[in-house]
Amino acid sequence: MNVAILGATGAVGQTMLAVLAERAFPVERLTLLASARSAGTHIRWGGQDHEVRPPEPGIFRGVDVALFSVGASRSEEWAPRAVGEGAVVVDNSSAWRMDPEVPLVVPEVKGPALAHRPRGIIANPNWSTIQMAVALGPLQAAAGLRRVVATTYQSVSGAGEGGREALRRELRGEAAEGSPFARRIAGNVISQIGDFDDAGWTGEERKMRDETRKILNLPSLPVVATCVRVPVDIGHAVHVAVETERPLKQAEAPAVRESAPGIQVAAGPEAIPDPHGAAGRDEVFVGRIRVDPDLPAVLHLWVVADNLRKGAATNAVQIAELLVSE
Ligand SMILES: NC(=O)c1ccc[n+]([C@@H]2O[C@H](COP(=O)([O-])OP(=O)(O)OC[C@H]3O[C@@H](n4cnc5c(N)ncnc54)[C@H](OP(=O)(O)O)[C@@H]3O)[C@@H](O)[C@H]2O)c1
Repeated sequence: MNVAILGATGAVGQTMLAVLAERAFPVERLTLLASARSAGTHIRWGGQDHEVRPPEPGIFRGVDVALFSVGASRSEEWAPRAVGEGAVVVDNSSAWRMDPEVPLVVPEVKGPALAHRPRGIIANPNWSTIQMAVALGPLQAAAGLRRVVATTYQSVSGAGEGGREALRRELRGEAAEGSPFARRIAGNVISQIGDFDDAGWTGEERKMRDETRKILNLPSLPVVATCVRVPVDIGHAVHVAVETERPLKQAEAPAVRESAPGIQVAAGPEAIPDPHGAAGRDEVFVGRIRVDPDLPAVLHLWVVADNLRKGAATNAVQIAELLVSE
């Protein structure tokens, strides 16, 4: 396969390169693209130096799969051009996720058919949404879903390399000029990711609601989230309270997940998944599974994953693998 990565120098792009190598993705030709700032630099991959170039008309000719990780406005500009030049685009930004003609895919969750992609674009969901959907998929199949309430604890790498650098600088006691965060993140917790709407929900909270419904194919499932940035380098954690159609007993709840793809269940109250342990791993870790003491149809879960891997790069490469198998 001829593969292009747009955003190859970013936090997600770099992780994509690592994941492609680890999973021995069949790359014949690799095209690495980033902004003009990185043009002319080289990235070593597969035993060769690859020059980083800015995107330009014609660059996607001959490319089979283009993995995009550059933000919504640049995806809006370049994805149709890449498709026009013959590539299938797997896009990490929010630009296309809610387009009815674009499948929003988490490979572990039975969702929309990948083959039906009239725009030639497949969207990779938002990072916290991916890990929550992986955790909800087996529950949906086993017991049906009635309502989801989530609170996230999202690492600074969710705001790209700039977010990681801002935390590092603040921890060194320096000013973090150009920080992507609205306020200091070191030693702090910020209950705002994205812009607020008139009703007080942030962009990230709306994405979790809309995208979860689309991925699970439950367009009217009540889903609310409160999204919070925490001073952690890599790894997002989510507390999910889920009401199921059929109440699950404490003993059967972990078993529903143990056989599910992509999930690792941490057994026992002392086995608590955390971002430190999840970083560098591709699984979604689920622990602290508890039946609500007052509401027997409500299950509480603690769901942790590496946001740069399963929350972005690994999910995108898994989609590309499905394209290979087509
Ligand atoms: N971080 C996550 O957990 C995560 C998860 C899922 C999805 N995403 C999405 O993935 C995208 C990138 O995230 P990130 O964390 O990798 O950000 P990042 O570290 O800031 O990297 C951004 C990448 O985009 C490139 N870029 C910027 N402006 C460009 C332009 N005008 N033309 C071409 N390339 C340009 C940058 O190149 P230079 O190095 O040359 O500036 C860099 O390669 C965003 O849409 C984000 O929402 C991120």
